[in-house]
Order: sequence, then C-alpha cells, then structure tokens
Amino acid sequence: MKIEVDQPRLASEIEALGSISDAEAPAVTRIVFSPTDLKARAWLKARCEDAGLAVRQDPIGNTFARWIGSDPAAPAVGTGSHIDAIPNAGKYDGVVGVLGGLEAIRALQRSGFSPTHSIELLVFTAEEPTRFGIGCLGSRMLSGTLSPEAARKLKDCAEASLDDVRKRAGMRGDLEAVALPTNYYKAFVELHIEQGPLLESQRIPLGVVASIAAPASLRISIEGAGGHAGGVLMPDRRDSLCAAAELILAIEDAARTSGAVDTVATVGICEVFPGAVNSIPSRVRLSADVRDTDLKRRDEVMRQIERASQSISAKRQISIQSELVNADAPADCASEVVDAISASCQKHNLTFLPMVSRAYHDSLFMSRIAPTGMLFIPCHSGYSHRPDEYASPEDIARGTLVLAETLAALSR
Ligand code: GLV
Ligand code: MN
Ligand code: MN
Repeated sequence: MKIEVDQPRLASEIEALGSISDAEAPAVTRIVFSPTDLKARAWLKARCEDAGLAVRQDPIGNTFARWIGSDPAAPAVGTGSHIDAIPNAGKYDGVVGVLGGLEAIRALQRSGFSPTHSIELLVFTAEEPTRFGIGCLGSRMLSGTLSPEAARKLKDCAEASLDDVRKRAGMRGDLEAVALPTNYYKAFVELHIEQGPLLESQRIPLGVVASIAAPASLRISIEGAGGHAGGVLMPDRRDSLCAAAELILAIEDAARTSGAVDTVATVGICEVFPGAVNSIPSRVRLSADVRDTDLKRRDEVMRQIERASQSISAKRQISIQSELVNADAPADCASEVVDAISASCQKHNLTFLPMVSRAYHDSLFMSRIAPTGMLFIPCHSGYSHRPDEYASPEDIARGTLVLAETLAALSR
C-alpha cells in the first residue's frame, strides 16, 4: 500500500478556504455561525461528498464526514479540527487538521486501503471562544463536558442566545442529542500547526504531543466611581481602571512566580467605561486566561488572583467580581495513538519531538471520551492567531502523510 498525499491540491484547498473570510487577505476572520462560516461549511461539505463520505451535522453544528469501514458497527477512528478563525487570524490554525484530515482519507482511498473501522472527519463548532466566550464549544458538548442546560445559557456579545443563533444558522434538533455515546470512537487524532517556535527552531519536522495544557478563564467586573477628570481630587477617587491595572499586574505576577515555565496568564480583554479622556473610568471588564500543564499549580494561580482581587478591592474601595467561565483539566495523550504516530514517523525516518500542547484544542475534550493523540507541524516563527501565520505545503503534506498512516494503523 503506497500512500501519496496530493500536496498541490491540499495547498490550493487551504488557499480556497482562506479566501472565505470577513477580513482582507491574507487575514482570515470566520466567526462561528456568521454567513461566512456557513459559506465555508457548505464549501467543505461539498468537498467531503466529492470524496464519497457520508456527511451529517449535529444540533450544535459539529460536522461528521464518514468513510464507512467494513465493520460499520465498530467504533470509528476520528480525525479533524476546526475552521472557525478569530478576528484577523491566519489560514492554517484548525484548517490544516480539517483539510489535512480530508486529504489523508482521500490518500488512503487512492492507495486501495480498506478500513475495518470507519474513519470519520470531524469539523468542530467554535473551537475559538470569540462569539460565545468559551472555547471548544462543539467538542465540550460532544464529550458531555458542557451540558445542554449550560450551553443554553450562553449568549454572544449582542445578547443573542446560542440556541437562537444556532437555529437561525440552520442547526436543527435538541442540544441533548449532541453528546456522543460511549465507545463511539476507538481513537481520535488531530493534526495541527504547532503555534509555537520549537519545531522550526530545532529543525524537527514533526511534534508528537504527550499532554495538553489546562486552560481556565475568568470574566472580571470592576466597579468604582466615575466623575469629572478635573473636578474629582485624587484622595476622593475610586478609579476602576487603576484597580484593573493593579489586578492585571497581579495576574502576571501570579504566573511568573508559580515556579514553572509551563504557567502562563494573559489578560486579553480590557473594556473601559465610559471611555472618555476627561472622565474617570467607572467600570472595567477584564478577561483573564490562565494555563498550566499541572492542574494544582494552575488552580493555585487562580486562588492567588482571587486573593489579589480581594486586597485591591479593599484597598481601593472598589467592587471586583469574578465569574469563572471555564476551568478545565489537562489531558495526557493515549499511548496507543502516540505509538501509532511515532511508528509512522520512524518508518519514514522522520525525527519528531515529544511535546506539550500549550494551546488548547478540541483534542483536550475528545480525550475525555476516546484515546486521543495530536500531531504538530512547524509554523513560521511560531506565529499563530495573526495574518502572517504560515506553514509550508511540504510540512503540511508530511503531517498529512503521517496522519494517513496513523489512521490506517488505528482503523485496521
Ligand atoms: C486556542 O485557540 C487557544 O487559545 O489555545
Ligand atoms: Mn486558534
Ligand atoms: Mn486551533
């Protein structure tokens, strides 16, 4: 069996999907359930049907494209990723795992391989938290990590409920039907760009992920007192932005002093009200993202943030309320999937780096319901979530070949 990846076709499909975007090229913006996202979904569905795959969509819009194996009742082997893109992103994050997964299936079909277990391409809904404030919406629900009741409470920034938005986008059925039965998948494997610089700087073509870091995020609301920037003297101020500034630095410090390089914390959103040069900020909203490979250490950082909030609040007479959006546990990749990926690398004399995934991925949640592994390819300077994100066609094709062999080994 000789597996050959059609590198030019895969590269041109990545360009084509990248052109379905709300941002000017080379930037890509594709927010879940926007008309652009729906156009991209339709484009992809047509490609999957061209490959002879049976396509279905669940009520949250996760898309499944199945190459039916010779034992259709046996648990399937899954692969895939996401096609939603944060504002002003690049064209490779998620897309490499989706179109690479599709090309891996087509390459196996061309090789004459016949799987015993079905091989299923998954396109997860809203891996990015942009619209509903929580990442991996589709895989959280598939894995039963996010309940339908909790999902129904989610709203976008225009206060539209997830339930209304998904129905308006044409997603039918009850959210109760999204969680997959146990044993649905025999294994799951995701191909992704590294989103970090290690593979490129060490000139190693592939990364085999051993564990995925655990993200937690907080929505923080800070309320002080507004007023005239000239009229209110300094001793009388309760400036919410000054409190926010102290808290942001305390969050940075909590991560820096955790004792491990694996701890990271970011405040990526800071909304200031009323936002006028001559008005004391009365209200600030922050979003904080804290991650670690070690759950205990990550949670200690969360406690430190809580203690800092209390002391800043008391010192400045300002209300600071935190809402925990998510606090997920890290995942270890399954040895059978790691071994299958490693065996394919060895067969092709490809060196690989055992890695930690510091970004989260749908695999974090798939690992709750199936033995899961991830394969990384290099990306230029480690850039991601920006328009100049880049992975070379050769690296993408190499990852796709290893993915195809891994899927073949797992589905025999
Ligand atoms: C995923 O996009 C992440 O933020 O890790
Ligand atoms: Mn991303
Ligand atoms: Mn991604």
